[in-house]
Amino acid sequence: MENLYVNLGENSYNISFHSNFSQLTDILSEINAPKKLLVVTDTNVEGLYADEIMKLLKDAGYDAACYAFPAGEENKNMDTLLGILNACMEHKLDRKSMLIALGGGVVGDMTGFSASIYMRGISFVQVPTTLLSQSDSSVGGKTGIDFGGAKNILGAFLQPKHVYINVATVKTLPEKEIISGLGEVIKHGIIRDTAFYDFLSDNVETVKALDPETLMDMSRTNCAIKAAVVEADEKESGVRAHLNFGHTIGHAIESASDYALTHGACVGLGMIAASYIAEQRGIITDTELESIIDILERYGFETRVEIEDFDKVMAVMLSDKKNIGGKIRFVLPTSIGSVDIFDDVSGDEIYSALEFISL
Ligand SMILES: NC(=O)c1ccc[n+]([C@@H]2O[C@H](COP(=O)([O-])OP(=O)(O)OC[C@H]3O[C@@H](n4cnc5c(N)ncnc54)[C@H](O)[C@@H]3O)[C@@H](O)[C@H]2O)c1
Repeated sequence: MENLYVNLGENSYNISFHSNFSQLTDILSEINAPKKLLVVTDTNVEGLYADEIMKLLKDAGYDAACYAFPAGEENKNMDTLLGILNACMEHKLDRKSMLIALGGGVVGDMTGFSASIYMRGISFVQVPTTLLSQSDSSVGGKTGIDFGGAKNILGAFLQPKHVYINVATVKTLPEKEIISGLGEVIKHGIIRDTAFYDFLSDNVETVKALDPETLMDMSRTNCAIKAAVVEADEKESGVRAHLNFGHTIGHAIESASDYALTHGACVGLGMIAASYIAEQRGIITDTELESIIDILERYGFETRVEIEDFDKVMAVMLSDKKNIGGKIRFVLPTSIGSVDIFDDVSGDEIYSALEFISL
């Protein structure tokens, strides 16, 4: 299948789409990967896919070792970073060596960050295995770890040398992780591409059944949308902020729930809340708002949630690191297929949006 080229000058790379891992070593040879590699993964993914990957690499003559850290966002921290860097040294990686991130967004972000600092920077390849990492985090070069209670507060931009997407890996994912990824996929349709949104709306059953051909089509268009945004604004000084659609209120609800609610579910609620603000302002129609609620519902998202304390949600929003000049930045839809940034959304509008999504 044809690659998707992410055009970032000297940081350019390809994303390839597959239904198995059989072409991984061909691709490594195409990008002139060094013989010495370290596969970084987490303990869940290790049990599912590491043996197969290590066998492929060793059969193709690579000097590859594997390092697995305990799975989960709570391990996206300094201790794990040091563990990865230690493994780099134990396996005697040099400046020409390469890391392979085999796993979800946590593995991808941590491996990329390790690659950005080991010997002042070595290369890495992304092999994302969750729907979220295949549709969002593996594309764009943001890497990092959580620190001092703040998410992704330490990090670096480092583009991978290649992203190898095997859509079949999502078959072993728990349902809530699928929902989490679908939130970002639907978001990409709403912010940029009406035809893709219609494709998602027309193929709910085949996507939910994880049909490989449909997943491959979805993944390709989805990554093309994200890649185009990143190409236009690699370091997030402008339009890359559009990717935050649904995340302002979504992240605040997630944080105010002390992370009892999942990120994907909260992004779904955040997209509904932002779309409600847009509809109340007359920027989108009532029919468009209903369509957004309907597609999320058909994909299994909750469209209402119990919010115990509106003020707590508001306080999180006010402390968001993405605010500029003390103002909460909102990305609102201007139609299905386009969005804009608004710095003038009032407290009243936010409260009524929270009421709209409240049970
Ligand atoms: N870099 C970016 O641009 C960017 C964008 C969005 C999110 N993120 C980051 O991504 C992270 C979330 O990513 P995620 O949702 O992939 O989380 P994750 O990496 O924690 O994976 C979720 C769970 O699924 C398991 N898993 C992974 N692949 C599996 C498979 N094929 N089958 C069964 N289980 C599997 C993992 O072990 C984990 O328990 C967050 O840390 C977030 O900050 C980064």
